[in-house]
Order: sequence, then C-alpha cells, then structure tokens
Amino acid sequence: MTTTGPGGSSEPANEGTPEVSLDRSPRPRRSSAPPPISVELGERTYEVVVGPHALDDLGTRLPVPSQATRAALVTNPTVEALYGEVVRTALSERGLEVDTIEVPDAEAAKSLETLGEVYHRMAAIPLRRQDLVVALGGGVVGDLAGFAAATWNRGVAVAQIPTTLLAQVDSAVGGKTGINLPEGKNLVGAFHQPTVVVADTGILATLPERERRAGLGEVAKYGFIADPVVLELLESRPDAAIAGDADVLTEVVRRGVAVKAEIVTSDERESGRRALLNYGHTIGHAIEALTDYAVYRHGEAVALGMVAAARLGERMGVSEDGLADRTVALLERLGLPVGGVRLDPAEVRQALTRDKKAQADGVRFVLCRTPGEAFVVEAPSPGLLDEVLRSLA
Ligand code: NAD
Ligand code: GLY
Repeated sequence: MTTTGPGGSSEPANEGTPEVSLDRSPRPRRSSAPPPISVELGERTYEVVVGPHALDDLGTRLPVPSQATRAALVTNPTVEALYGEVVRTALSERGLEVDTIEVPDAEAAKSLETLGEVYHRMAAIPLRRQDLVVALGGGVVGDLAGFAAATWNRGVAVAQIPTTLLAQVDSAVGGKTGINLPEGKNLVGAFHQPTVVVADTGILATLPERERRAGLGEVAKYGFIADPVVLELLESRPDAAIAGDADVLTEVVRRGVAVKAEIVTSDERESGRRALLNYGHTIGHAIEALTDYAVYRHGEAVALGMVAAARLGERMGVSEDGLADRTVALLERLGLPVGGVRLDPAEVRQALTRDKKAQADGVRFVLCRTPGEAFVVEAPSPGLLDEVLRSLA
C-alpha cells in the first residue's frame, strides 16, 4: 500500500521510528498527582503517568506529534462504552479529529484478520505518518494497536492508555507489540515504544474481579524479582487490592512500572536483564499452551509458574528457605491458583522447547534468590523439573 507521507513524498521518511517532533512543553498538572515515571530511551524517552485520576488530565498529558491532525482511537466495545467518550473529548481538545476503530473484545482480536481490518480503517481515515494511534484497553488492544502503529506507514506514534491491571503494570510499558498466529501466541511482533502511557488506576474498579486478581499475579512478580515492598503491600492489604482500592493499586502499579522502566532502559530488546520480567512465565506459558489458553488467565498461569519457580529454586539450593511457602501464602490470599493442575511432565518439556523464549541452547528459567533478587539459570535436571511439576497437582 502506498500512502502520502509528510511533505508530499509517497514514501515514508525512514524505517521503524516515526519522524515526528513531539510537543513536550510542560503543562499544568494536578498538584496531588504523583510524578510520572520516565522510561529513559534517549530520543524515545517517555512518561508513564500512574494515578487514580490520570484520565482527567489526559488532554494535558498527551504528547501530540507537531503535525498531527488526526487520531485513530483503537478500543473494544466494552472499554469504548466506559471510557471512549472521555478519551475522545481529550483528543478533540488537543485539536485532533478522532476516528474510533472498534475491535472485538477477545484474544482473537490479536489476529491477522483483525489487524487487516484495522489497516483498512486507517487507510480510509486516512491516517498519515505524522498522526497518532491511541490504544485504549487491556493487553489485547494495546498489543494489536501497538503493532498496527509500529507497521502503519512504517511506524506512527502510539499513546497507550491501559485499562486492565495487567496492561498498566506490564504490557503497555516497554514497547512489545504483536499478534498471534494459529501456530502460536505473539509470533508476529515488533518493539515499538509508546510516546506516553497513561494508567488511570481509578478505572480498574470497573474491571471484573477475576481480571484484577490475574493482574495481581503480574504485580507480585515485581515483588519477587526486584521490589519486596510490593509483596509487603499485597500481604498487608490483599482484600483491598482485589477489591480495586485505588490507593493500594496506585502504589503497587507505580512500583511495578518503576521496576519495568529501569529494566527496559537497561535492556530494551531483551538481550539480557529483561528476561527477569519472565519470572514465573516459563512454566506459566507452558500451562497456558497445554490448556489451549482456555482455562487460565495469563496472570493465573504466571502465579502457578511462580510457585513452580520458587520450589525449583529451593530444591536446587539457590533460593532462600521459605520462599515457596511465602509465594503460596500470598497468591492464595490474592485468590490465585497455586495448584490443582495435573501436568504431564513430558508434554510440559515439549511445550517449553516450543516457547519462543526458549534459547537455541536450551530452556532457561528465572529464579528468585530472595524477594527482590532474581537471576537466570540453565534448565534444571529433568528429574527435578518433573518433581516440581507434579507438585502443582
Ligand atoms: P484483555 O485485554 O483481554 O482485557 C481483559 C478484559 O477486561 C476484556 O474483556 C476487556 O474488555 C475488559 N476490560 C478492560 N479494561 C476494562 C475496564 N477498565 N473495565 C471493565 N472491563 C475492562 O486482557 P489483558 O489481560 O489486559 O491482556 C492480555 C493480553 O496481553 C494477551 O494477549 C497477552 O499476550 C498480552 N500481554 C502483552 C505483554 C507485552 O509486554 N506486550 C505482556 C503481558 C501480556
Ligand atoms: N512482559 C515482559 C516484557 O515486557 O518483557
């Protein structure tokens, strides 16, 4: 497809990153709003705004590309009904004409088919290279809209407005975007950093409780890999976290995002430290795949994976005694699964080697020495792994 780029050229100016200058002039902020967290990536540095009223200030928070005239707001019907209008109003206040692109409310929206429909809508607008994509929704919308933005006209700016706990604390930050293929999840993707992330923790109150619990699994991960205060907060106020208390969620999301921002800054493309963000994910992904993504939400499978990782670490003698008990106690209080899954160890080992995160020289695991300290190990002995997998039954 050929579209007209800035200056009348029929070819976009460069590959990958959008060539836009962003209006980052300081704007008035609510005095009570906590300061944004910065993801430091040179010219692509951006802010993650986390707070219970962050959406109220969206119009003033948003870096708008200087020549942008239009925004494509990608969302789903559920989120559109709740928050579409407030976001459209903010975009209009910034002088943008807004076209809303609704995608189905399901993981199935991360497909070639839906991506194709999004491209056709962008062509019809027409969305140009200097315009803006706004992703409003959970990880599904964020990944799909982010990938559409990464590839449309070889890359247009995307603002992420995550509306699930998982998306606020993880998927909207760090630039991973993508879609699924029938052959596997997230097989097609790109790194495309947003120009801003606006995470309004107040809107997590409308999330179904199961989604909040699942998101808390990802939140707990940050406690184990880098910030034990997250664990202490969850341990002291689990019911408030589950109920969507904005103060508790704001604090744990801010701490999680701060950890992720630091890790992404040091290893944007996951050649090293970023792998620590996969704590609990190696076995978690295998459990999701072996149950056809139909039984567990992602954060629930990660919870099981963290129990397995803690037991593995203890049995290998590299994790502190009591880590597995503490993990189980916390996750149980958050209403997350810590057992009840019967796995065929041979099938799990096969799934592990199919996982796209498996290295050419074998599967690696992230383990936790003590809360706040994580590291990567080569695959444990099959016997030990099988024993731990059986312990999840
Ligand atoms: P999701 O996007 O499907 O959202 C869950 C449900 O909550 C949906 O039905 C949605 O409509 C609804 N919803 C969203 N916000 C709401 C709100 N405020 N109030 C009421 N309902 C609301 O699920 P998810 O867990 O956010 O995301 C899962 C996806 O994220 C997966 O595709 C996974 O691969 C991806 N992911 C990506 C990364 C990354 O780094 N890019 C990391 C982790 C997960
Ligand atoms: N969700 C893991 C990562 O962003 O690297």
